[in-house]
Amino acid sequence: MADLKLNITEKPDLDKARSRVRQEIPVVRDEIVVPERLIQFAQGKKYFIRTYGCQANVRDEENMRGLLELTGFTSVDDEKLADFVIINTCAIRENAEDKVFGELGILKGLKAIKPEMLIAVSGCMVQQTHIVDTITQKYRHVDLMFGTHNIHHLLELLDEAITKKTRVVNVPSKYGEIVENMPSKRNHRFKAFVNIMFGCDKFCTYCIVPYTRGKERSRLMDDVIKECKELVTQGYQEITLVGQNVNSYGKDFKNGTTFAQLLEAVALTGIPRLRFMTSHPWDFTDEMLDMIAKYDNIMNHIHLPFQAGDDMILRLMARRYTVASYLELVKKMQTKIPQLTLTTDIIVGFPNETEAQFQGTLDLVEKVKFDATYTFIYSPRKGTPAHKMLDNVPYEEKQKRFYRLKELVDRIAKEKSDTMVGQTYTVLVDGVSKHNPDKLSAYTESNKLVHFKGDAALAGKLVRVRIDEANTYTLFGSLIDDQA
Ligand code: SAH
Ligand code: SF4
Ligand code: F3S
Repeated sequence: MADLKLNITEKPDLDKARSRVRQEIPVVRDEIVVPERLIQFAQGKKYFIRTYGCQANVRDEENMRGLLELTGFTSVDDEKLADFVIINTCAIRENAEDKVFGELGILKGLKAIKPEMLIAVSGCMVQQTHIVDTITQKYRHVDLMFGTHNIHHLLELLDEAITKKTRVVNVPSKYGEIVENMPSKRNHRFKAFVNIMFGCDKFCTYCIVPYTRGKERSRLMDDVIKECKELVTQGYQEITLVGQNVNSYGKDFKNGTTFAQLLEAVALTGIPRLRFMTSHPWDFTDEMLDMIAKYDNIMNHIHLPFQAGDDMILRLMARRYTVASYLELVKKMQTKIPQLTLTTDIIVGFPNETEAQFQGTLDLVEKVKFDATYTFIYSPRKGTPAHKMLDNVPYEEKQKRFYRLKELVDRIAKEKSDTMVGQTYTVLVDGVSKHNPDKLSAYTESNKLVHFKGDAALAGKLVRVRIDEANTYTLFGSLIDDQA
């Protein structure tokens, strides 16, 4: 494969990414221009996108699909059959990045057989200078790198790579904009993610997100509501409002707008199920709890990451709460919303975590009894404050703690699932189960997966199901009523 010339327009820059100098946040509403040559090029061609990471990335993928389909490209499920492949990456932990490098290795082999295949890498990983350098030097079969801030320029960038026959790198590190003009092809027929804000200003010391996604900035309430109303009209049954910390919604407007107000306005669109994520335990307001309690269509489920069960570690993480204040918040939530289910995220093995501090994490898990817990081993991220901390805990010890925690959270999740047996719940039917064609998959209000026998035509409907049997994370039930 001959090496193509490298055309670097912009590379990510950590200092720029860290900067939070106050400035106007532009709302971009320009019409998307589809380059004429690209329309000709895309005729009969197929694209494939693989996305890693969180809902922000999933939503970005949907926008990329929307853009590509304006040109005539059609989607394909197998990368081997694709003419254009996008790997939409996540930088949250090293193992997320390792997977991408593995995938790029496989794509190198595919491109050797099919040299005209175009390969792009997007998302949070390429917002880091060292990753862009590694890919330009060692993964020369990658034709295009673009970041989280310029997805709306995807078509122009692709056109440039094709017509100039160069490798294109355009990854600005930005304060950020709000782009309202993007088309979107949603991945799901009746469950939708709706961005309410972008970026993050919390700067938890272990986390790369504030550097890869820019300043915390809210979409105008009118724009969010308009999108939600359209989804309701199209027959969507569930909306999840997404942001790195949805509690902060509207603070940047400095006019008294709150997330609780937005939550109420979206609940009033009549969407049957409304969720939101993620909430930081630091600025969760009573007003939000009142809204959840007031509207039946706001699900009684809160994802409330606590990260560590020790005050010293929480301080070193810059999480802005203590174990006591977290527990107090949980108590208040459970009092105001008796049916509440809670889920959480935990990091094991933050630098210098002692056995006693880890025990604090186990204790907190025992106390709160989460319905589901996402557990991670701390992964140092270049450029974050925690990356510079010396660490006296060997990796093997972190792994042992991780498995101890995993055992505990699984045991508690099983106990929680067992309490559901014999009870009847309203579930939203997703469709036929991927693993068992005789069964349907559906989700409870707490987002637990339930399998039961039923007609495939129930997909997209809310029905009543009795739980007969429980595994740790999956329930099995029988249809009681095909109307909720
Ligand atoms: N904005 C959300 C989640 C962001 S990332 C929040 O603040 O809750 C999802 C989870 O990944 C985090 O909650 C945290 O538990 C984990 N995580 C983030 N950075 C990490 C790192 N460097 N190592 C291990 N886990 C990390
Ligand atoms: Fe990362 Fe903290 Fe922001 Fe969540 S709140 S994205 S953990 S910096
Ligand atoms: Fe990953 Fe970026 Fe989301 S780092 S978790 S894809 S914001």
